[in-house]
Amino acid sequence: MVKICCIGAGYVGGPTMAVIAFKCPAIEVAVVDIAFARIAAWNSDQLPIYEPGLEDIVKQCRGKNLFFSTEVEKHVSEADIIFVSVNTPTKTRGLGAGKAADLTYWESAARMIADVSKNDKIVVEKSTVPVKTAEAIEKILMHNSKGVKYQILSNPEFLAEGTAIEDLFNPDRVLIGGRDTPDGQKAIQALKEVYAQWVPKDRIICTNLWSAELSKLAANAFLAQRISSVNAMSALCEATGADVTQVSHAVGKDTRIGPKFLNASVGFGGSCFQKDILNLVYICECNGLQEVASYWKQVIRVNDYQKNRFVNRVVSSMFNTVSGKKIAILGFAFKKDTGDTRETPAIDVCKGLLGDNAHLSIYDPQVTEDQIRKDLSMNKFDWDNPIHLQPMSPTVIKHLNVVWDVYEATKGAHGLCLLTEWDEFKTLNFKRIYDNMEKPAFVFDGRNTVNVQKLRDIGFIVYSIGKPLDGWLKDMPAVA
Ligand code: UDX
Ligand code: UDX
Ligand code: ADP
Repeated sequence: MVKICCIGAGYVGGPTMAVIAFKCPAIEVAVVDIAFARIAAWNSDQLPIYEPGLEDIVKQCRGKNLFFSTEVEKHVSEADIIFVSVNTPTKTRGLGAGKAADLTYWESAARMIADVSKNDKIVVEKSTVPVKTAEAIEKILMHNSKGVKYQILSNPEFLAEGTAIEDLFNPDRVLIGGRDTPDGQKAIQALKEVYAQWVPKDRIICTNLWSAELSKLAANAFLAQRISSVNAMSALCEATGADVTQVSHAVGKDTRIGPKFLNASVGFGGSCFQKDILNLVYICECNGLQEVASYWKQVIRVNDYQKNRFVNRVVSSMFNTVSGKKIAILGFAFKKDTGDTRETPAIDVCKGLLGDNAHLSIYDPQVTEDQIRKDLSMNKFDWDNPIHLQPMSPTVIKHLNVVWDVYEATKGAHGLCLLTEWDEFKTLNFKRIYDNMEKPAFVFDGRNTVNVQKLRDIGFIVYSIGKPLDGWLKDMPAVA
């Protein structure tokens, strides 16, 4: 029986290993983590992450060929293939601070592998890492090898949260990068055989190590760039009276462009896009490619601009002040169908409104109050670095209320901001919401989820990203 061990039981490691175990009954999969609470949750009825379809798969395999454990060294030493899926935060200090990936967790995992391994291993990079990390890891392993042979592979994961199981079941492609040597090719083949249990062979792409590492950064950068492109257009739409949904539809009909990933929004979030682009920018700068670096940097600038623009729109619409006003925040997760809040645009929007003294009442069907308070009191990039957690700031405690009901969140509010496109927001009773809000009542839709005309008919003043502005908003000062 082939034994697989995955170091890191997070958003990537957990679902990926669950699907490998589900699709390959002949493989024994152990997912290990140093975080006891996380492993305990994986072994309980309340999994540590919310992902449609995940629970079902975990329940079917757990205890049979899928195990979650904190006995990291034991499982690593027994495994033939070791996936490394630990966090790679952005460095907050020292060389490359604010851009470069912090490989501390990766390095310590590699040193631990070298310490405990007694037979030859295939070590697979699963977490997104800067180009040439594999080479660095290889050096650590080789220099501490005690006669054990290692093959390093890069097998970046392309799953998106909220659709992780669907993406893993039916991936657009599986990418495996390895050394162009006989042993390297043998290792690629071994990993290919695992995926070939359910993925058609023509979708398994094999490349060299560096192409695989760079392809992951490039794919995320291209995706984020599409969103920044459409978001940049949304500002122009508002200024000209064009409708961004109509523009996206027309543009996406060009088969060279395609219709997906062209939804204007309050900004992209998630653990990957910003981090990976910053990484790309840093690599470009290290290689003297300033023009390329500033090209990609602009994708993040437009994203920050979009979030600021939204806050400015809220404040300027409401007579240039939100001080002391209750504002309901509907949705806090970075996208629907996940409880994940990493880099969610809601953090910046809420911080912006709190900075202007607003009183926020937040509702999200999957995010806990504790998480929201943590997020709003953390510094940039600290979410991926548990040791940097800040104490909660007094403003956050005072002017923030987290509730489990939309109607409670909106009661007595002057405005509501819709920041995550949860399906349930499409079918809200907006008449009831309107009746219980202060007047004039504002809706700021950061996800183009509501039916603008219906809401205007009820009496709301509605702002929806990239849509023609109604008279009220046109009369307010321009938003830079
Ligand atoms: C992304 C990549 O899609 C995935 O392939 C990679 O493995 C990890 O990073 P994820 O961050 O989970 O996945 O979600 P994704 O669906 O890509 O959304 C990222 C952000 O972009 C979300 O905040 C989402 O709301 C936003 N988005 C997405 C838009 O604003 N408009 C769109 O059209 C699409
Ligand atoms: C373009 C648009 O494609 C067309 O829809 C519009 O109506 C007019 O402008 P055109 O300029 O005739 O058409 O040719 P196109 O095939 O788009 O190529 C434009 C340039 O981009 C060429 O120099 C081409 O060599 C280059 N190109 C195109 C690339 O460098 N790489 C590519 O992948 C595609
Ligand atoms: P991702 O979204 O990439 O999956 P997460 O932060 O969700 O990232 O998961 C990374 C996991 O890796 C965390 O649960 C963390 O505790 C774990 N981890 C980090 N370093 C180690 C290590 N040396 N050994 C085992 N687990 C580790």
